[in-house]
Amino acid sequence: MARKVLSLLPPLLLAAAGLTGLLLLCIPTRDIREPPALKYGIVLDAGSSHTSMFIYKWPTDKENDTGIVGQHSSCDVRGGGISSYANNPSGAGQSLAECLDQALRDVPRDRHMGTPLYLGATAGMRLLNLTSPKASASVLAAVTQKLTQYPFDFRGARILSGQDEGVFGWVTANYLLENFIKYDWVGRWFRPRKGTLGAMDLGGASTQITFETASPAEDPANEVQLRLYGQQYRVYTHSFLCYGRDQVLQRLLASALQAHSFHPCWPTGYSTQVLLQDVYQSPCTMAQRPQTFNSSSRVHLSGSSNPALCRSLVLGLFNFSSCRFSQCSFNSIFQPPVAGNFIGFSAFFYTVDFLRTVMGLPVATMKQLEDATLTLCNQTWSELQARAPNEGARLSDYCAGAMFVQQLLSRGYGFDERAFGGVTFQKKAGDTAVGWALGYMLNLTNLIPAETPKLRKGTDFGSWVVLLVLFAVLLLAAVVLLLRQARSAKSPSAI
Ligand SMILES: *[C@@H]1O[C@H](CO)[C@@H](O)[C@H](O)[C@H]1NC(C)=O
Ligand SMILES: *[C@@H]1O[C@H](CO)[C@@H](O)[C@H](O)[C@H]1NC(C)=O
Ligand SMILES: *[C@@H]1O[C@H](CO)[C@@H](O)[C@H](O)[C@H]1NC(C)=O
Ligand SMILES: *[C@@H]1O[C@H](CO)[C@@H](O)[C@H](O)[C@H]1NC(C)=O
Ligand SMILES: *[C@@H]1O[C@H](CO)[C@@H](O)[C@H](O)[C@H]1NC(C)=O
Ligand SMILES: *[C@@H]1O[C@H](CO)[C@@H](O)[C@H](O)[C@H]1NC(C)=O
Repeated sequence: MARKVLSLLPPLLLAAAGLTGLLLLCIPTRDIREPPALKYGIVLDAGSSHTSMFIYKWPTDKENDTGIVGQHSSCDVRGGGISSYANNPSGAGQSLAECLDQALRDVPRDRHMGTPLYLGATAGMRLLNLTSPKASASVLAAVTQKLTQYPFDFRGARILSGQDEGVFGWVTANYLLENFIKYDWVGRWFRPRKGTLGAMDLGGASTQITFETASPAEDPANEVQLRLYGQQYRVYTHSFLCYGRDQVLQRLLASALQAHSFHPCWPTGYSTQVLLQDVYQSPCTMAQRPQTFNSSSRVHLSGSSNPALCRSLVLGLFNFSSCRFSQCSFNSIFQPPVAGNFIGFSAFFYTVDFLRTVMGLPVATMKQLEDATLTLCNQTWSELQARAPNEGARLSDYCAGAMFVQQLLSRGYGFDERAFGGVTFQKKAGDTAVGWALGYMLNLTNLIPAETPKLRKGTDFGSWVVLLVLFAVLLLAAVVLLLRQARSAKSPSAI
């Protein structure tokens, strides 16, 4: 009996070895022997209200894989956006020093030289370039001078077009969610069936909507063709200047001063002194600017918690009366019907998140978003302060922000209940912030190839197949041996 068990041992061991080998080959491998070398890239996102620095990292050996680049760290620059230094350009450069010093520590010293560094400015600088091209040029020169003092591979400070801003936000979201391409466990690339995700960004001075569309845009300014991983994408995009959150608030303030002696979007019990110069200095409030006004005088304005009047004030920001195309969103801008799922990030997220978490209201449907907005706009100042004691100076403006978001989505972009069901609001995908910055860097460093990459397992794919066959043969041999022994044990003629 013992001999019989002993004779079964070698084939069993063989089978175990074969099985183990096969299993090991099927487990997704990680390079444990030596951690892969990392590369880094830095993008300064110079927005209208503030500048953020993002440091990205990726393993060099997997450079063209989707979803491989992630956020290493980030830093918020103290003070206002670089466009607020129009009268003191060198201050704009100096404001970046603290975050750049952090970058020196966050990126390993031996990688400094090979780390690309970009600064992209958005709508705040677009506006400054409109009012004073000279001032915007000197701000860019000042930040360039500062950035070249660092050991990184500085590749320029630029003002992004609204179109670029929209498209790079769309690229970022779909790259992070692996909607362009994925690979299966044997290392073959395939195109996920779920399609791409539309992107909606709400900044301080502009807002962008970008989504894949089947039909050509009637206005070529709204269409971008992209070739990513061997696939052609036709993308609709538009950026509305002066429709960012801060500029909308200034425009509503100007409208309130013009039409009422109170602010219907501010809560009852809240009042403040408004400096006219602050309201009218932006090109976005130009149309509402009185012929003569004392720029250093202040006007006392108080809130009235009036949802209906607030809504009509917000609706006054949109012009639906003319359209040169078969269909428009507003202000005579062409837009096809919204299609597919969407992600709303930046201030879209913050606004909806306030309704959800601070107000405790559901916003899963268009109707719920509308009801939540009306409830928020009907609160008194003391009720609001009781709910959000730590919210600070922005608390009085959440009603106006929510009303704008709700009207922009429903009336402006034309989301109905069905389309709104496909919208999610989020600021990050994994650990990486969703915004234009990552897409911008991916494009400028050529990290997204135009053509489909070759087999991912590349060099070790051949040996992987040989090992697979070897272990399979091993397993087969063991099974054959086992069967033979089992038969010989049963057979009475066996000796
Ligand atoms: C400022 O605007 C002008 C006119 O649109 C444009 O030609 C120029 O490139 C802009 N400046 C920058 C730095 O982008
Ligand atoms: C403008 O307002 C300031 C402060 O209210 C006042 O001191 C000044 O005299 C005003 N100037 C004119 C021209 O009205
Ligand atoms: C809307 O736009 C049209 C065309 O640009 C313009 O004629 C009209 O005055 C605008 N209406 C409002 C209320 O601004
Ligand atoms: C606003 O609140 C008052 C009482 O607090 C309530 O009677 C009214 O119906 C509310 N209006 C809206 C539009 O929610
Ligand atoms: C990305 O970069 C390429 C050049 O490498 C350029 O042709 C293309 O237009 C860029 N994509 C976008 C969306 O700007
Ligand atoms: C990534 O793609 C680019 C352009 O398609 C190519 O030149 C480069 O060698 C690729 N890198 C890797 C690691 O495959």
